[in-house]
Amino acid sequence: KGCKLVGCGSAVPTLQISNDDLSKIVDTNDEWISVRTGIRNRRVLSGKDRMTDLATEAAKKALEMANVHPDDVDLVLLCTSTADDLFGSAPQIQAALGCKGNPLAFDITAACSGFLLGLISASCYIRGGGFKNVLVIGADALSRFVDWTDRGTCILFGDAAGAVLIQACESEEDGIFGFDVHSDGEGNRHLNAGVKEHEIEGGINGPIEGFPPKSSSYSCVQMNGKEVFRFACRVVPQSIEMALQNAGLTRSDIDWLLLHQANQRILDGVATRLEIPTERVISNLANYGNTSAASIPLALDEAVRGGKIKSGETIATAGFGAGLTWGSAIIRW
Ligand code: ACO
Repeated sequence: KGCKLVGCGSAVPTLQISNDDLSKIVDTNDEWISVRTGIRNRRVLSGKDRMTDLATEAAKKALEMANVHPDDVDLVLLCTSTADDLFGSAPQIQAALGCKGNPLAFDITAACSGFLLGLISASCYIRGGGFKNVLVIGADALSRFVDWTDRGTCILFGDAAGAVLIQACESEEDGIFGFDVHSDGEGNRHLNAGVKEHEIEGGINGPIEGFPPKSSSYSCVQMNGKEVFRFACRVVPQSIEMALQNAGLTRSDIDWLLLHQANQRILDGVATRLEIPTERVISNLANYGNTSAASIPLALDEAVRGGKIKSGETIATAGFGAGLTWGSAIIRW
C-alpha cells in the first residue's frame, strides 16, 4: 500500500509587517535583517483572528484541490506549537471543516519540525492503520509568543497555515519514499518557550505549602541564534542523505529542495553541502519569515500553484527546530 499527496492549500493573515515597520519598535534596520536572514516581510495575526481560522482556510483549499469531500476525511493532524486551546485545536478544525465521517483529529507539537513529522505520521496511519484520506495541517502563530522588544528573535517569525491531503493509493503511485527523524532534548536550552519557572513553584498563601499550584503561562521564545544556526547546518544535510538512502535514491534524483524556511543562509548552506543549485531551492522567506510548522506546506502550496513544482517531481524536504527535533522526507508531488 502507498500514499500520495493529492492537494495543498495555505492561508496567511492580512496584516503585513515590514522590516522598516519593525525598526519603529526595536533597534534594528532592513539591511541587518535582510542580509542576515533573507526576511523582508512577515504576516501577523491581528484583532480576533485565530490560528485555527487560518488552519481551517488552508485545509479547505487542500480539500478543494484534491476534490475530496470533508466527510471522506478520516484523520486530521494539526501540527502546531501555538494551539488556541491547551488541549489541542485539531477537533475544532475538524468541526469547522464539517468533517462528519467520524474522523480522528489531534495535535502534533514539534515546533518547526511539526509538519514534517505530521507528514510521516500520516503515511504510517495510511500504511498500517487503513486510513484513506489524511489532512496534515501545519499552522503556527508565534507572533503571540514572541517578545516584541527582543530584536534577536522578533524579527524572525511570522504567522501562517499550510495543509496537504494525503491519500491511500496503490504502491506504484507511492509519493512518500523515505524518511529520517531525530530529537535531542539536551539541545532544548538553545530554543524553547517553557512554562514560566516562578509559576511552577506553586501557591504560597494556602494551608498546604506549595499548594494549590498557580495557573501557568509560557515564556516568550528564547533562542541562542548562533547555536540553532550551527545545529541546522550540521544535521539537515546528514538527515537528507539518510532519507535518500532509505528511499533508495541519490542526490541527483532531487528536483527540489524544500526546507523549513528559517533563514536564507541556512537554506543556502544546506544546498551547497548537498550540491543542489540555487534555482532548485524553494524559498519564500522574504515575504513570510519563519512561520514554524506552516513554512513547508506554505512554500509547497505557493510553488505548486505558481507552476514551479510540477506533478511527478521529487522533493527533498526537511524540518528542524525546537525540541530540538529534525527530520527529512523524500516525497513526490
Ligand atoms: N538588528 C540589529 N542588530 C541586531 C539584531 C537586529 N535585529 N539582532 C541582534 N543584533 C546585534 C546583536 O546585538 C549583536 O551586536 P554586538 O555585536 O554589538 O553584540 C550583533 O547584532 C550580532 O548578533 P548575533 O546574535 O551574533 O547575530 P548572528 O549573526 O548570529 O545573527 C540570527 C542572528 C539572524 C538570529 C542568526 O543567529 C540566525 O539566523 N540563527 C538561526 C535562528 C533560526 O533560524 N531560528 C529558528 C529555527 S528553529 C525554529 O524555526 C523555531
